[in-house]
Amino acid sequence: MAILLLGAQGQLGWELGASLSALGKVLHFGRKEADLSRLDELRKLVLTIKPRVIINAAAHTKVDQAEDEPELAGLINAEAPAMLASLAKELDAWLVHYSTDYVFDGTKDGVYTEDDATAPLNVYGQSKLDGDKAIMASGCRHLIFRTSWVFGHHGRNFPRTILELARQEDHFSIVADQFGSPTGVELISSVTALALNQAQRSDQNLSGLYNLVASGYVNWQEYAIYVVRRAIDLGWSLLADPDKIIPRSTEESGRKAVRPANSRLSTEKLTRVFGLTPPPWQYYVDRVLWAWTREYVAANPNPPKILGLKFIPPMNGAMSRS
Ligand SMILES: NC(=O)c1ccc[n+]([C@@H]2O[C@H](COP(=O)([O-])OP(=O)(O)OC[C@H]3O[C@@H](n4cnc5c(N)ncnc54)[C@H](OP(=O)(O)O)[C@@H]3O)[C@@H](O)[C@H]2O)c1
Repeated sequence: MAILLLGAQGQLGWELGASLSALGKVLHFGRKEADLSRLDELRKLVLTIKPRVIINAAAHTKVDQAEDEPELAGLINAEAPAMLASLAKELDAWLVHYSTDYVFDGTKDGVYTEDDATAPLNVYGQSKLDGDKAIMASGCRHLIFRTSWVFGHHGRNFPRTILELARQEDHFSIVADQFGSPTGVELISSVTALALNQAQRSDQNLSGLYNLVASGYVNWQEYAIYVVRRAIDLGWSLLADPDKIIPRSTEESGRKAVRPANSRLSTEKLTRVFGLTPPPWQYYVDRVLWAWTREYVAANPNPPKILGLKFIPPMNGAMSRS
């Protein structure tokens, strides 16, 4: 009775592989082995494996690109999850799925709860919302974790992009009128394992939608400044001066898909039901930066060429928060 992990090569899927292994045998499937746009093959795969848990970390996450391919986004983010939900019901399996802050229009003053009205501003958000609704209507046992601004050690994400930029430019501008909580994949995957374990053992029906983000919030510019400052603390030699990362408006950024100005999510329900309280977002940024630094140092014992480390960072104290 295995745990089927879909999207195993994504930044969250990669981390889930490790966290879930304490719960049972995890079968890892990336896009090549399990393509969510090929529903018939996906159905056959699930019915062959007959998992007791399906974890869906796969999604069409290219938010701007989704504006040009709404059908594909709908297929991967809504139709495939709907089919997984109906298979989970048929097999009496749990389905774990991930939702997004982009289901909201961002006009609320304050944090969004699970009960707030949704109103996506872009194709990606609408397709993800359609997936959430289909799962909730299916009657299968499910956990949907709604998260935001996801980053991890593996894959493309904001901290990685900022560090690449900071190596090349001494100053740049970043959007400062969108607020949210950067959420590390380590947090999402550990909460997934803990909550799933509780839900499977509980006499109560704990199926449902739960917001899952790190605590605290920032705008993208503040987030970028934090990443660059911490990298410099760790010994990275960057061209960018954190004081020269200046604010830019959403309008000026000219992105194809419209993004919500307020992405803040309340995790009160997660704490009330599962007794889990997310730590501050900075904790996970520090861990990722430290992991990249260690990796770089291990791979480059001689004077660094690519990142330009000024010195080998100390082992102690690097994780402390200023
Ligand atoms: N990233 C964020 O900021 C964010 C924010 C809120 C919620 N979420 C949600 O969190 C979950 C995990 O996201 P993530 O950050 O880990 O995204 P990610 O790194 O982009 O991972 C998504 C994975 O899905 C794969 N995929 C795409 N199309 C597929 C298909 N047709 N069949 C099978 N796999 C396919 C991707 O493969 P390729 O790399 O080959 O495309 C990738 O490995 C998703 O449900 C996402 O909607 C993410």
